[in-house]
Amino acid sequence: MFAEYNNIVIDHFMTPRNSGIIESYNAEGSYGDAGCGDSLTIYLRVENDVIVDISFLVFGCVAAIATSSMVTEMVKGISLQKAVLLKEDDVTVALGGLPKNKIHCSLIGVFALKNAIQNYYDNN
Ligand code: FES
Repeated sequence: MFAEYNNIVIDHFMTPRNSGIIESYNAEGSYGDAGCGDSLTIYLRVENDVIVDISFLVFGCVAAIATSSMVTEMVKGISLQKAVLLKEDDVTVALGGLPKNKIHCSLIGVFALKNAIQNYYDNN
């Protein structure tokens, strides 16, 4: 099952960072891949336009879980203006690569994050 993944991906899959629902989140965003049925919700705590806390709940494959975990690590503590620039390639590189047939899995993390940021701006 894990043979196709590198150690960074396996680590984030086995011990996902920032999983669950943070208390007092003030924005959330979801994204689902209609093709495979996987879905992700990201929760943000934003203060002064900075993501001070972030968490996620995901239903998905190994790569979906690992990329969700990595996305939360990459944007925690940075401004919304910087976070919104995150691209799926950035996440894939940070993970040390993904199998070709799993590259699309990095999309759900980035899209859910952008939906959460949009949700924050819509309501604040
Ligand atoms: Fe659906 Fe990975 S197979 S996100």
